[in-house]
This record gives sequence, C-alpha cells and structure tokens, in this order.
Amino acid sequence: MTVQTVSTRPFADQKPGTSGLRKQVPTFQQPHYLQNFVQAIFDSLEGYQGQTLVVGGDGRYYNREAIQIILKMASANGFGRVLVGQGGILSTPAVSCIIRKYQAFGGIILSASHNPGGPEGDFGIKYNTGNGGPAPENVTDAIFARSKVIDQYRILDASDVDLDRIATTHLSNTRIDVVDSVTDYAALMESLFDFDLIQQFITGGNFRLCIDSLHAVTGPYAKAIFERRLNAPAGTVQNGEPLEDFGGGHPDPNLVYAKDLVKVLFGENAPDFGAASDGDGDRNMILGRHFFVTPSDSLAVLAANATLVPGYREGLAGIARSMPTSQAPDRVAAKLGIDCYETPTGWKFFGNLLDAGKATLCGEESFGTGSNHVREKDGLWAVLFWLNILAVRKQSVEAIVQEHWATYGRNIYCRHDYEGVDSDRANTLMANLRNAVGTIAGQSFGSYQVDYADDFSYTDPIDGSVSQKQGIRIGFKDGSRIVFRLSGTGTQGATLRVYLERYEADPAQHDQDTQVALADLIGLAEAIAQIKEFTGAIGPP
Ligand code: G1P
Ligand code: ZN
Repeated sequence: MTVQTVSTRPFADQKPGTSGLRKQVPTFQQPHYLQNFVQAIFDSLEGYQGQTLVVGGDGRYYNREAIQIILKMASANGFGRVLVGQGGILSTPAVSCIIRKYQAFGGIILSASHNPGGPEGDFGIKYNTGNGGPAPENVTDAIFARSKVIDQYRILDASDVDLDRIATTHLSNTRIDVVDSVTDYAALMESLFDFDLIQQFITGGNFRLCIDSLHAVTGPYAKAIFERRLNAPAGTVQNGEPLEDFGGGHPDPNLVYAKDLVKVLFGENAPDFGAASDGDGDRNMILGRHFFVTPSDSLAVLAANATLVPGYREGLAGIARSMPTSQAPDRVAAKLGIDCYETPTGWKFFGNLLDAGKATLCGEESFGTGSNHVREKDGLWAVLFWLNILAVRKQSVEAIVQEHWATYGRNIYCRHDYEGVDSDRANTLMANLRNAVGTIAGQSFGSYQVDYADDFSYTDPIDGSVSQKQGIRIGFKDGSRIVFRLSGTGTQGATLRVYLERYEADPAQHDQDTQVALADLIGLAEAIAQIKEFTGAIGPP
C-alpha cells in the first residue's frame, strides 16, 4: 500500500451550496472530480493528523464508490481512524451523533438529501465539523477557494475495504472500523424519549401508525426502532429497503412525493399517525388521520409540549427557526418567556446557537426539525417526539394542533416553488426586488400595509459573522409576511421560492383552506416580484 500523489486541475464549479456540493452523478464520475473536492476539504482543515473521521451516506447510486475513494484519501492524508457505516449507510443525523459520541475530528456525508438518485440522478458530499454539524460558511468558503487552485491530491493505492462486514481493518496506518449504522443513533433516541410509554401506547390496540422511508436511508433505522424495539407490527415501516435510486421515487417527505403515505392517511380506515423521512433521514413529514401538520406548526407544537418528554423535561433554553419558517414558534417562545432566533436558511446557522446553549429546539419550514441532541435536523427524532407527546396526551394529532391554534392563533402558511427558471432571469427578479425594498416599505397593497421590507441579513450572536442577501422579506402590519429567495440546493437552473404567511387569531377561522386563506397574498407576491414575467409561470405552481 503506497501513497500516490496525483496531479489534477481545478474544476470551477465546486462551490458548496445550502448543504454541501450537489451535482448530477455523471459530474461526480468525471475523473478526479470527487477526489479534488475531498482533497480541498482536507486542505482546508488543520490538526486532523491521527484523528478520527466519520464517513457514511444515504445509499444512493455512487455511494459505495465514493466511500472507497474517501477511505483511501483519508488514509493517505493521515487520519488515524475512520468510522464508516455498514454498507456505507449512515443517515445524516446518525453521522452527527457518531461524530459527537466518539469525539471525531469531523465527518463526510454522501447525500443529495431529498433529490432523486440513480445513474442520472443527483449525488452530493458535505463536510461536518467536530461539533457534529455542517461546516460553517468560513469553512465551506475555504474549501471552495482551495478547489479553485488545487493541483494534486493524495490517495492510497490499496484494494477496497469490505463495507458489508462489521469489522476493524487497516488501510496502511489508518484503522478502519465498519460500524453498525443504527446502534449509536438508536441509543441516543432511547435516552431522550420514554420508549416504554411509547411502546405501551402503540401496542395497546387503540393507536395505529405508518412510517414511510421512501426507499431511502431511514429504512433500517425505522425498522430497528419502531418494529423491533417498540414492537410496532411488522409492516409498520413501508418502503423500508434503501435502494440506489430510491425505487425511482423522489425521497422528499411532503404531500407531493410521499404520495403512498398520503393515500393511506387520507384514505378510508386511515391510521392515527403517519410519518415519512427523506433521502438522508434529516427531514420529516408528520400526518394525522386526514390531517397534515405544517413543519412550522410542528416545531411550535413540539416546543409547546417539550416538557412532556424526558429529554426536555427541564424546559427549553430557546427556539431557533430559519427566516422563511412561519412565526408560529415565536408565539410559543413569547409565552414561555424564552428567545426565538431567526436565522438564514440552512441548518449550519443553528450550530453556534446550539453549541452556546442558546437554543434547544430548531426548525425549518422545509420539513426539518431538530434539537441540541445532535447538530443536524433529525427526521426520526421528530417522529419519536410526536409519538411521545401523543402517548402522554392521548389525543389525536388534529386535536393537538387545533388546540394549539386556539391557544396561540394560527399562522396560515405555504411555500410555492417555481422550478427550472432560467438562472439569469431569476437573478434579475431578485435584483429588482432588492432594488425595490426601499420603496416598498411604508406602502399599502389593498388592506395590507407594509411594516418593513428588507433583504435579510444575519449577524451571528455568538461569533459576530455576518451573512447577507439571505432573502427578501416583506412584513405587513397584521403579522402577515411574504419572503422571496432562490434555492441553494438545486442542480439545474434556478428555483424561486416564495413563502407566504398570514396570522389568524380567530378560532372560528382556523379551518380555512390554506390556498384560499392566502389567495390575496399570493396575488400580491406575484405582482410585486413580477413572477409571471420572469418565470413564465401562470398561477402558483
Ligand atoms: C432547502 C431548504 C432548506 C434546507 C436545505 C437542506 O434549501 O429550503 O431549508 O436547509 O434545503 O435540506 P434551498 O433549496 O431552499 O436552498
Ligand atoms: Zn435531507
């Protein structure tokens, strides 16, 4: 086994987005492409010699090949030990858990999250730091800078590691531990939630649940936790085998892509509870019988009920939500007398708040919820949190949410995505909005009076770092809001995201259909941003 130094030339397109570097599989398969990026990661780090690296992915096409390359490069670059999930499988929250538990230097996650997989699908790679969270912007900026000038990488000339057998082997001086993908994560969950109570509840005959892993990474985790540890009936977990192309599906837990689950929960004789997770296991969707819980409401409900759950019995230090997430959690925070932080989109912005003990729960409108137990959002954690609350309160999901709205008012909310927009046109649309914010502030549109309009800028309260241009916010006097931003995770063209929110205090109005309730704001958003003119879209997507 010898270390080879391979000459290479930079690729210009290796700028990490909202969540690491994401490209289509053929891009990653170009000679040296993955290697360059991995070496750029290592070159941007200091002090990892002899330290531990955690490596795993969501099992999508190219996962195994990428892991073999990374193991040989980690060894050639001097890591002392690598922990890799069996079969190359580790969910994103499991990587975060393992980094923290074993005090690893960092971790590399192979995933493109909820994007489709397969030979023509997407692939991705991201680096997580020693706190278990996504690398902050100064690290991803350094990786990108390095990727632009890289001229060589180091890789061990060795045969592949057997990823399927739990065992310890060596690549040159580097110890490689193939570890069970589930054990450490499941133990962490058991330390936070009342598993005995949940078990009694779901085996008691009065409650039925259905979990959909969408043929992605959470299958083995969900089967181990729900079917084996909590004794839910076999078959509770559907689509539970991770497949390289997710069975041709789109592993995104929302009403559109988790359609099998939606059919079950909105069908006849529906179970009481349903949940789905995404490709890499960090997202979740929560459904009750014939009822959808928006992720923003889910965060608010978890926060309001947190002390019912053992891991959070002492109460919350604070809540953090991404800027486009609805303001429902703010209302809970106000009532609890704790802070609610508003951060830019992307989980990396929660890391400092969690590390500093300022926030306990965090969430994003994009089906992401999590806490200080790891430094990533965590799909199955959210499912267990809900089940623990249900097991204590013994009410339906719908009743719990209705009661929540009656107490706090309802933040009626939705997001519209305009996909496949020409990048130049999308950038012009945003530039126009940016130029207009100064004049929008103070205007009235029908009954909506603008309270403020700005391009969101965030100053991290811990390290003072500033992130600018994080999305256009237009806030109205009645608490309603429109937000515009461009996606940072797509791999083709641009996606314009429009987030709409209206506050409704009157319980008699809480059963309204979301699109109807938001119709005026939707029209306003289209007019202000000239969405039709720039995207060609007629009406909301
Ligand atoms: C999307 C979501 C964002 C999430 C990210 C990674 O990013 O909107 O909340 O953190 O995926 O899962 P976007 O495509 O909007 O940049
Ligand atoms: Zn994900």
